[in-house]
Amino acid sequence: MKFHAASTDLTKAQADLLVVFVSMGATAKVTLPTPEAKKVDKPLAGQIKEIASLEQYEATLGNTFFVHSKGAIAAKRVLVMGVGKLDVLSMRDWQTVGAGIARKAKSVRAKHVSIALSDTLLNVFGAKESAQGCVEGITLGAYVFLKHKGAEARAKDHTIEEVTLLTAAGRVDEVTGGVKRGEIVARAVIMARDLVNEPSSVTTPTYLAGIARDIAKGTPDIHCEVLGAPEMRKLGMGGILGIAKGSEEEPQFIRLSYNGGGEKTIALVGKGITFDTGGLSLKPPEHMETMKMDMAGGAAVLAVFSVLRFLKPRVNVVGLISATENMPSGHAIKPGDVVTAMNGKTMEILNTDAEGRVVLADALSYAAEKVKPDAIIDLATLTGACIVALGEEIAGMFVNDLTLGSSLKKAAVRSGERIWELPLAKEYKDGLKSTVADIKNISSTRWGGAINGALFLSEFVPEGMPWAHLDIAGPAFAEKDTPLESIGGTGFGVRMLLQYLLSL
Ligand code: BES
Ligand code: ZN
Ligand code: ZN
Repeated sequence: MKFHAASTDLTKAQADLLVVFVSMGATAKVTLPTPEAKKVDKPLAGQIKEIASLEQYEATLGNTFFVHSKGAIAAKRVLVMGVGKLDVLSMRDWQTVGAGIARKAKSVRAKHVSIALSDTLLNVFGAKESAQGCVEGITLGAYVFLKHKGAEARAKDHTIEEVTLLTAAGRVDEVTGGVKRGEIVARAVIMARDLVNEPSSVTTPTYLAGIARDIAKGTPDIHCEVLGAPEMRKLGMGGILGIAKGSEEEPQFIRLSYNGGGEKTIALVGKGITFDTGGLSLKPPEHMETMKMDMAGGAAVLAVFSVLRFLKPRVNVVGLISATENMPSGHAIKPGDVVTAMNGKTMEILNTDAEGRVVLADALSYAAEKVKPDAIIDLATLTGACIVALGEEIAGMFVNDLTLGSSLKKAAVRSGERIWELPLAKEYKDGLKSTVADIKNISSTRWGGAINGALFLSEFVPEGMPWAHLDIAGPAFAEKDTPLESIGGTGFGVRMLLQYLLSL
């Protein structure tokens, strides 16, 4: 898909599909056309206005209808797209609009789409940002994972070839800037989606390490180092090694570093469980079905790194991924076993399905001891409890530092992703007391599971080091199809992390 910005006259714009926008007045019943929608409606003999009224159309966000031009204008057909009320038009809204356009364009097999980005809309959220969101939405809305489908299914999927964002002549540069940023960000999100959607037989720890090496290849500002089991043993990473015991696949501890030339260093830590069976605390089949997604945190870190050389944030970034399978076997770690993390703390493993926190214990210890960053942000599909708390679309955020927390919240809103802060409630720490080790990996209580997971992780972050934990168990994987997200990996976290790094 190729994007570009232009200031072509709307009625002369060659396209299979021309998109014009309408917004909602004080009540849903009133439809307010943008000047561009009005302009196109003239040669169309007022069909837009007429259909809207006959169909009792409401210009809610993403609500659309088609009008056929029959030669009255250069474009074959017009898609009238509602954007809701104009007082709020967020990044998320632009992405939703873009995704809606992609889905509609695919449904009529349009190859060339032109979009009349009205000043009326661009002024609400800014031209560059709006264009960025629109491009992200179109790219992500068009995304499907067809790698393992047959030729017939692949041929059936339609590819949009060209998208032109039409804007006032004076705004072409600004919109072009947004297009470029949107294309890069969307490419990263798609990389994360692909990695999650790929079966675990492909995305083994070694495969993820290979991807990390590829990212660093030929990029002088990015370095990659991969630790295998022997190196991990030397560092005392008993957590990841313990979880990996049941697997035939060698665990890999991946370290990527980007030198952005700034003063600050941010560590991004990703949970990279390439398949989570639960280990000997085996998951029931219905909970295991989607567990190839348990490396979504690691995938997000890899995806972020894949585009740093294009976005060039002025900050140093270190990416750390604890990658291993969690399998049951005669060699597997057993409930009651005690392992020692890299920071020297002993962990009693009472439930082998709470493995994410155990492999992250080493990654966080490594970050603190070897990287000494200004902040650590970890992303992990850590707990089902977080999905119970916040649902499938919102990630839980736990922070020990106000500034980091508010920066991440801002980055999330600005990038169109949803996070919500949950408390690192010290009162619940007692539940993690072990009778035989420094800490146990599950709480004595079944309540507040997302908090208990975060509290466990906090034991491996030194006092005073700013740290945020994002529990992405819900939003990392879509169980149902929506315009912006087809079923499967969503690439959650990539957009907000890139936005955060660029904001520093
Ligand atoms: N990978 C799972 C968490 C998960 C569940 C992610 C559903 C995505 C969807 C994690 O390793 C796990 O199994 N956590 C346990 C922890 C419990 C044993 C304390 C859980 O949430 O049940
Ligand atoms: Zn698990
Ligand atoms: Zn897991």
